[in-house]
Amino acid sequence: MSRPRFITLEGGEGVGKSTLAAGLEEAINRIGQTVVRTREPGGSVGADEIRKLIVTGAGDRWSGVTETLLLTAARSDHLERTIRPAIERGDWVICDRFIDSTFAYQVVARGLPYETFVALNKVVAAPTPDLTLILDLDVKTGLARALNRRGGEARFETLDEAFHNNVRQAFRDVAAREPERCAVIDAGQPPELVLRQACALVSARLGLTL
Ligand code: TMP
Repeated sequence: MSRPRFITLEGGEGVGKSTLAAGLEEAINRIGQTVVRTREPGGSVGADEIRKLIVTGAGDRWSGVTETLLLTAARSDHLERTIRPAIERGDWVICDRFIDSTFAYQVVARGLPYETFVALNKVVAAPTPDLTLILDLDVKTGLARALNRRGGEARFETLDEAFHNNVRQAFRDVAAREPERCAVIDAGQPPELVLRQACALVSARLGLTL
């Protein structure tokens, strides 16, 4: 058994993170590891309650600061109730969105001061992921996919295309700044190719064979 690993999947709207998370979970299960597949905002009972406040309603419902505090409260509960217990049990964790989403959406796209982001990560003792896969996709294509799928959870998709282009660029910048932790995958490829590339990256970066 290898040590537990914490993998995060990041990217804009409609890039296919949840499909990839399910495929990766299956691949990791095949090598005998238990996986906790989770997401943010959400991933615990309390955090799912807070999620409803964050992802529904008008685009301007919350200021950048208030939105970040809600996201951080959800993250704190998620870390306490789901992520840390899973890692302590020796399970792997695949998390659909984590701190890089806060950097892309709140710091870069909404203008939250970077120091506030760093301070809040310290408050919740956010762990650094072992590997972050960033799914990169043309914004128009991603938004069309996301809007087709959503019920009431479309608060972020109602923000304009320039906002989402800033988000996309922010994720690419994170990958360029931290190439050892992050890898970018072209999410315009068919899902099976995205999964194959992700499995190859997990194998190469984390030293195993999926
Ligand atoms: P989802 O589309 O992946 O379910 O995420 C819901 C929305 O939450 C998505 O539009 C991005 C947003 N979000 C942030 O703005 N900051 C964050 O830190 C996280 C985790 C999500």
